Amino acid sequence: MFTTEFLDLPPLAGATGSVTLPGSKSISNRVLLLAALCDGVTCIHDLLDSDDTRVMLTALRQMGCRIVQNGTELQVTGLGGKLNPPGSGATTVTPLFLGNAGTAMRPLTAALAVLGGGFELGGVPRMHERPIGDLVDALRQLGCTIDYLGNAGFPPLRIGRPTLNLSEPIRVRGDVSSQFLTALLMALPLVARENIVIDVVGELISRPYIEITLNLLARFGVMVERDGWQRFTITAGSKFTSPGHLHVEADASSASYFVALGAIAIGMHGHGAGDGGITIQGVGADSIQGDIRFVDAARDMGARVESGPNWLKVRRGVWPLRAIDIDCNHIPDAAMTLAVMALYADGTSTLRNIASWRVKETDRIAAMTTGLRKLGATVEEGADFLQITPPQSPAHWKPASIPTYDDHRIAMCFSLAAFNPAELPVRIEDPQCVAKTFPEYFETLLSVSHPVPGKIPVLCMDGPTASGKGTLAAAVAARLGYHFLDSGSLYRITALAAAQAGLALEIANQERIVDVLRTLDIRFQGSKILLSDVDVSDAIRTEEAGLNASKVSAFPMVREALVEFQRSFRKLPGLVADGRDMGTVIFPDAPLKVFLTASAACRAERRYKQLILKGIPVILDNLLADLEARDARDTTRMIAPLKPAEDAKLLDNSELTVEQSVNIVLDWWQGKQPFGKI
Ligand code: DC
Repeated sequence: MFTTEFLDLPPLAGATGSVTLPGSKSISNRVLLLAALCDGVTCIHDLLDSDDTRVMLTALRQMGCRIVQNGTELQVTGLGGKLNPPGSGATTVTPLFLGNAGTAMRPLTAALAVLGGGFELGGVPRMHERPIGDLVDALRQLGCTIDYLGNAGFPPLRIGRPTLNLSEPIRVRGDVSSQFLTALLMALPLVARENIVIDVVGELISRPYIEITLNLLARFGVMVERDGWQRFTITAGSKFTSPGHLHVEADASSASYFVALGAIAIGMHGHGAGDGGITIQGVGADSIQGDIRFVDAARDMGARVESGPNWLKVRRGVWPLRAIDIDCNHIPDAAMTLAVMALYADGTSTLRNIASWRVKETDRIAAMTTGLRKLGATVEEGADFLQITPPQSPAHWKPASIPTYDDHRIAMCFSLAAFNPAELPVRIEDPQCVAKTFPEYFETLLSVSHPVPGKIPVLCMDGPTASGKGTLAAAVAARLGYHFLDSGSLYRITALAAAQAGLALEIANQERIVDVLRTLDIRFQGSKILLSDVDVSDAIRTEEAGLNASKVSAFPMVREALVEFQRSFRKLPGLVADGRDMGTVIFPDAPLKVFLTASAACRAERRYKQLILKGIPVILDNLLADLEARDARDTTRMIAPLKPAEDAKLLDNSELTVEQSVNIVLDWWQGKQPFGKI
């Protein structure tokens, strides 16, 4: 997962390949609650692992539910309709923190309110701005005790013991969030000693989510009678029973980004690859999730979609996409993806009946409007609609830094703007907000995307020995979410492998050393370096290994053999490369090259402190003399001498902390980006 402050997506040209998506959030949280409430053990497969499911799991454990992870399956031992918070007495209050998960807050409120007492439910500040009054009103009608701890109508809530009266029909509003009805449908079977009738007041929105609820209730043995979308009856004697095993489908809303990707990306601007398309595993035509209907809307816009029971395959069809005018009530979440597809359409698109967007993770109508306008689209925003006209021509697209308001879907949607015809990068702020439902979203997207050739950013760093370039380069890479190439380690590994093969490190042997080099299996795993699966991270860091690396790095054939390998590290979303000739030979087109120039005295002192800390006795003056001698050798050597690239920026970090140096380099980098100051 990208945990950086922002993620700069370079311009993307095409996409091909297969993706497996994480489990559906809506199904996961419903199944977790039903498994917790029912009798018996339920083994859940392919459950979504994300922020929203984690808060649900924690809450269920606090309610006394036994949950055990067993490989890829989760075993939930149901409470059999009785609460059992560990260590609780009649008067204790258990606080439940539900983050920003509406799919946890609403159903848990209902379930705890009918079961009775002793809980406080809250979440992040945004959760306390998301309405729950209609559900609380409905629950109070049937005798539940619920108090608002903050603003009336919003969490946090305290739930006490109920005195239930279920003989009258329960009235609940259906036009703000369908989750209120879902919450009642999942809670009331716990107390269905007589028929319980729920009447929906107002037009029920997001009906497909109610269908998911009904479908899953049936899987847990509860049949609900439905009279249109107005009246629901839970029959007397209904009881949750575990289905034993249950597989969670992949998330259809998450699939929408990859359906759109298939429709937008293939072969764009002539760079893309053939007609490969995007295959989506885990969700298909027979999905119980309403958002699967997004596929129809994508087809209307021009996507070519094939589907099977557990897969979708999407290719680009009509191009540019056809503008669309659509009522989105049935696909409220996936419809956000249409708003970004509209950027690639042949005219103005209108998304209607989306008022519920305003009470989601953020005000999604406002957030979409802001981002789309930043990209150069013309947007009209209404109380319940959005009208989008794409930028008139490639020249009208603008480089945009997209604010995401802690809303996973805003971040995921806008990543698709990286396929813009102007070949501009797109900045996604706070990319880790995708953790709500799809922690590996950006990795998945980048794994199937092709960059516009030459547009993957590279930042090169070089400097004399002990200048701290490795530390600085790794830190800059971490702050940008980029890959990191420590090119010196490749020379160190080459020397180690050559020595292991019994070769003297002499120029006469360079051909044979290259032969050895070609057979090596080198892998970088986080901060570890593996040579044929053996961790050599420490072995290549010794003074001797450095000296040997210096020897082999002066052999022209060795350097030549490493050129393509080093270039292969230039992968999405970007690279920070550290080493001698990074900015000159390997990546001469790198937009930023930094050359460190700390004084020899200062470097000697740093090295001295490092070695003393490690318990290695050294004399400062000797270290200084060594460094000066090595500088002289390095700068005057014939092959790849130490000297800054012509267009390198010099940074004297003698008096700077690592953090200060990192910030200076990031400022320089920022200055090269088209987004302006952040
Ligand atoms: O950065 P380092 O100390 O790990 O590098 C080991 C040796 O390899 C050092 O003598 C410099 C040399 N080197 C090189 O010639 N070219 C590179 N791109 C990286 C390192």
